[in-house]
This record gives sequence, C-alpha cells and structure tokens, in this order.
Amino acid sequence: MGDKVLIVGSGGREHCLGWKIAQSPRVEKIISAPGNAGLSWLGECVPIKANDIEALADLADKERVDITIVGPEQPLADGIVDLFQDRGLPIFGPTRRAAMLEASKVFAKEIMSKKGVPTAEYRVFSDYDKAIEYINERGTPLVIKADGLAAGKGVTVAIEEEKAYYAVEANLKQKVFGSSSDKIVIEEYLCGEEVSMIAFTDGETIVPMISSQDYKRVYDGDEGPNTGGMGSYAPAPILPTEYTDFVVDKIFRPTLEGLKEEGVEYRGVLYGGLVVGFDGPRVLEFNVRFGDPETQSLLPLMKSDLYEVIRATVEGRLSEIEIEWDERSAMCVVLASGGYPGQYATGMDIKGLENLLNQKDVYVYIAGAKYNNGDLVTSGGRVMGITAVDTDVFKAKERVYNAIKNIHFDGIYFRKDIGYKAIERYL
Ligand code: AMP
Ligand code: GLY
Repeated sequence: MGDKVLIVGSGGREHCLGWKIAQSPRVEKIISAPGNAGLSWLGECVPIKANDIEALADLADKERVDITIVGPEQPLADGIVDLFQDRGLPIFGPTRRAAMLEASKVFAKEIMSKKGVPTAEYRVFSDYDKAIEYINERGTPLVIKADGLAAGKGVTVAIEEEKAYYAVEANLKQKVFGSSSDKIVIEEYLCGEEVSMIAFTDGETIVPMISSQDYKRVYDGDEGPNTGGMGSYAPAPILPTEYTDFVVDKIFRPTLEGLKEEGVEYRGVLYGGLVVGFDGPRVLEFNVRFGDPETQSLLPLMKSDLYEVIRATVEGRLSEIEIEWDERSAMCVVLASGGYPGQYATGMDIKGLENLLNQKDVYVYIAGAKYNNGDLVTSGGRVMGITAVDTDVFKAKERVYNAIKNIHFDGIYFRKDIGYKAIERYL
C-alpha cells in the first residue's frame, strides 16, 4: 500500500502541491479539504474548511493519512500542527509559535533585530498619539503594518503623511483588523526590487528553492490595488543562485537560531519576502508556507520528488536531501474574473481547458472554479493559473500567453506583462 496524503486548502497553490505530490511513486491517494475542481482530478475532496482544524484532525485520523500538507497560513497560526502532533498525526508545517513569524509582524521584527537580520528599521506602537508623534518626527515615506494577520491587507505604504495618519487611525482607533490592529509596526520604506526566496527546513538543515517573483497588483505596470497575486515566474534574475548562500547564511539561519533561543523549533517551508537594494537583500516579511502563485512557477521546475523532500522535513532528515532543478524558466499567469479584487460575477462557463491538458510544458492549476452539473464554472476571483516552462523567460512568456488564448469565460481578465522585470533586465 502506498501513502495517503491530505492537502489542506482550496487555491491554485494547493492544486499545484497536489499535482506535484501525485507524481511521487510512494503516493497512492490524495485527499483534499476542502479542495477545488483541480484537486478533484487528483482524488477525493472533503468539504471541511481549512480553518476547521479539529475536523481536519478527525479526518486525518479516520483516513489514516500518512502526511498532511497545509497550504494557507490561518490554520498554521491557529495551531493545526500542534493539534496534529498532540494526536500523533504526521503533518508538514510550523507550530503555532513558529508560525508567529508570519502571524505577528512585531514578533518577526524582534527576532530579526535580535539576530541582526537585514530588514527595515522599525518601531512598535499601540498608542495613537505616540505613533502620530513618531510620524511627524521621522517624516514619510514610511510603511505602517498591522501586527497580526489581515488577509494581505494590513500593510500601508505611505508616501504622504496623510496616508500614514489614516493607517494609524484605522488600526489603533478603528481596529479595522480586530485584534490584529492592537499593535502596529512603523518602518522605514525600502527601495529596490522584490523577490521571494522559499526554503525547506527541519529546524537544522536549510534547503532553499530557486528564487521567484510574484506580481501582486491587478493592472499592468504594477498599477491598481493589491490582489492575491496575478502571476509569477522563476527563477528571478534579480536573485541568481550565487546569492542563495547569502540569503541562507544571513537571513534564514539567524532567524531559525533566534527562534530556537525562544524555545521554538521551525519545521516546514519558510518564505522570505525580500527587497534587493544597493546593499543587498533585506527582509520585507516572512511567510510560513508556500507562496501563491510562486508555487505554480517553482514546482514545475522541481525535478526531485516533493513528497520525499516533505517526508525528510517532517522526519528531521533534510540533510540527506538535495533538490534537483530544471535549468529552464517557468511563468504562471493568473486568469481572474473581471472586477477582481473588487466585486465580480461567478458561475461563468469555462471553455477550452481540454486544449491545454496534453500540451507539453503547459500546466493548469485551478483556483476558483467548480463543477456545476458536470460543467466547469468560475467560482472565485482568481479562477486558474496557467504555467508554461521553456528555455528562458522570453520563451516561457510566449508559450504561456499562447496557451491562454485557448481559454474562454465571460469577463476573463489577466495581466499581459508578467515577467517584465526579468525581461527588462535582459534587454
Ligand atoms: P508585506 O505583507 O509585509 O510583504 O507587505 C506587502 C507589500 O508592501 C510588500 O510586498 C511590499 O510591496 C510593500 N512593503 C512592505 N514593507 C515595505 C517596506 N519596508 N518598504 C517598502 N515597501 C514595503
Ligand atoms: N505571493 C505572496 C504570498 O503568497 O503571500
């Protein structure tokens, strides 16, 4: 009998994780909770929400799941790993206290400053008047961050003072993110290009992936509001593999040591959101999970068996593992519902997917789509990501945008310029 794997979550990232895990010869069955149309191609989807951690533990127990893999941050911050461990159920991800690296900006900043990890200078405030006084003293640009999780909406980059005052008021007076707004971090504005570096770690060994970059704004040229991510590509030439050692030695390793000094061991994937300026990479944020949509560009380039990497991480034998990467480039473009990240319609028929399913080096990762009487229809803002792999970023771009021409649904919207930062660099 092969292994049974439970994937927690319902986005493009989780479909991509499931797709990669399903290629492992060791894996026999994939269950997802709650899953989506794409995950239903790989196995059973059980309608339990990603935040219902007790019900997920019952499911893993009943199904005798060999390893549970968690996609989103909320269940990690809520202690899904602690709960599973208490019940003797193997799970991949950091414990509740380790997940505070993402769930509390103040905690992350304290660990980084204690260990001298390069990041923006900062102060913490819970008092409105003191925060305003600090803004007046320092002057903008400044960045104001709610301490806790805020579904990606907790960060205000304030070029003008008015915007900074407003963010302080929204957090410390109106508590727009509830208890996540109790404290704020006010930090220095960092200039440079953003890049993501994601690594596996069992607490001792750190095995980095290749670099990647996501495109968070909704419109071309990085205009308009932030979204969950409109596309990604890997590797990112702003952070070539020669710099990986720097990120591991100066960022990931001291951060893990800082956690250890607090009695916290970190296991899982650690995501560094970095900005590369004149003086090298600095940390904008940590996430305690795979990035979405970076995963959809990274895993198609991973030649090694992801399930074996995850098993080694959970079992504390990552030192035995070396990950092999395809030398080519991957690009993922997200097809969204018109209007996203604002209001959008759902239930639109999706046509043309069958034209892609057998195209070489083209992959489809479903996010917000479901089956309605056998027809695939849109059900979310980000409907799916299409990834193409080719010899370089130019060719990957051509291949992915050609592939997209096959897909149709009413209101389809996607960015036309994913990868432009890499492309400008080579031109
Ligand atoms: P975070 O959730 O902390 O990554 O912040 C969301 C976005 O805000 C980042 O992707 C950056 O574009 C921007 N940001 C965060 N911190 C800073 C900073 N110190 N300087 C400039 N931009 C920042
Ligand atoms: N792509 C950014 C994130 O996953 O938070």
